[in-house]
Amino acid sequence: MDERDIIRVMLSHDLNLTPDALDILKGFSEDQLNEILERISEKFPDAAVITREMIEPERAEKFEEMLSIEFQASASAVEGTLDEFLRYMRDRFSRIQGIILSRTGLKAVEIAAAKRMSQGESVTIVGMVREKKKTKQGGEMMLIEDISGEIPCFLQNGAIKERYNRVVKDSVIAVNGTITKNGGINVRNIIFPDIPQRERKPVRMEGKIAFISDIHIGSKYFNRKAFSSFIEWASNEDNLKYIILCGDLIDGVGVYPGQEAELEASNVWEQYKMASEFLSRIPKRIKVIYIPGNHEPVRQSEPQPPVPDKYSEFLPENLMKLSNPSTIGVGGIRIMLYHGRSLNAMFKYVPGMQPVNSSSVVRAMETLLMLRHLAPIYGEHPIAPGSRDELVIEEVPDVLCMGHIHVYGIGEYKGVKLINPGTFQEETPYIRKMGIEVTPGTVPVLDLGTMNVSLERF
Ligand SMILES: [Fe+2]
Ligand SMILES: [Fe+2]
Repeated sequence: MDERDIIRVMLSHDLNLTPDALDILKGFSEDQLNEILERISEKFPDAAVITREMIEPERAEKFEEMLSIEFQASASAVEGTLDEFLRYMRDRFSRIQGIILSRTGLKAVEIAAAKRMSQGESVTIVGMVREKKKTKQGGEMMLIEDISGEIPCFLQNGAIKERYNRVVKDSVIAVNGTITKNGGINVRNIIFPDIPQRERKPVRMEGKIAFISDIHIGSKYFNRKAFSSFIEWASNEDNLKYIILCGDLIDGVGVYPGQEAELEASNVWEQYKMASEFLSRIPKRIKVIYIPGNHEPVRQSEPQPPVPDKYSEFLPENLMKLSNPSTIGVGGIRIMLYHGRSLNAMFKYVPGMQPVNSSSVVRAMETLLMLRHLAPIYGEHPIAPGSRDELVIEEVPDVLCMGHIHVYGIGEYKGVKLINPGTFQEETPYIRKMGIEVTPGTVPVLDLGTMNVSLERF
């Protein structure tokens, strides 16, 4: 439910609630919320304001005490005006600039000030990459801007070519170099916002989490045999506590031209009904956490709200719907979930990322962490420019999971586990055209005790 719906329900009970209480209620359906409120009013008959402390035990009962929702996108509505876009980009710029400056302690100047400096002076700026292109002489350059102006930055140092390649349009970076004759910068170094090395956390919970995504139920290419054997495996794994479902559970309708010919179930209701036949076989002790992808019947612009409640009747009770992206906490470990639609653009624009395979999937995810943004290139797929850029990776997670690419990947970057589950859909004509070798039936499994990730194949 979104904030407005929660507040509506609260008012209908004559109750008020604190902001942190509001945050933790977002993952529940209306029925679940009513149930929780009933129990709270039994325990606290005189309470007019519901606090986080009052909800916690109730939530714990429903979703086990070790699971928390750390971040849910508000996915607020936008009109698509230029002002909204500017506000969104400024928010992105100032927050990632803050990350760069506080992490590195760099002394950066505004671009307008850099342009007043003399040739040969050393300078550091922080800015957003507006454009990357070849110079007339065949060299490489990027145009970088901040609120005060823009400045051309020329790649002079071949040793940083690999770093340069990972910089994509609309990302925020720092550049250090010397002022050129014409008031540009000869780049000596590129500094990413990047992440600090993650420390290993003490184990607070034993158990396993299975990561799945891109099931595409309703598609003729959905591999029901493999998915059935995954569910059978999950049912017999006593230690399995959670299943994370990172988007594209169903194939949806009207997602791409000519999709009808590839569908076995032609509407989303039927597809969810088919999904429920599988998901309801998962034992109730296992909690399923489900975020939407680009095939779900929900707004396509990111951030995406959770799948609407009208489909809940097809989803089992032990399933919790969250936004895309969102971050959960399990036993003190932060797990960031994002469907991964931006990965396409990373494969398209970052030289050396091709071909798409298990190792390049990890490199693409790692690059997004280095840039501290889940979908830096604006306009490659729909992004709703809300007043706050909810795709900035503000808090560094312990685990980052993305799907969408249909190829599994398991890796690690500075102590952050990178996981891409793969798919349960066989190769489609569209994927074949893209030259991607899909890996159907792969399921990464995280052991919370050891933090090791293994791969199960079905
Ligand atoms: Fe998919
Ligand atoms: Fe997808």
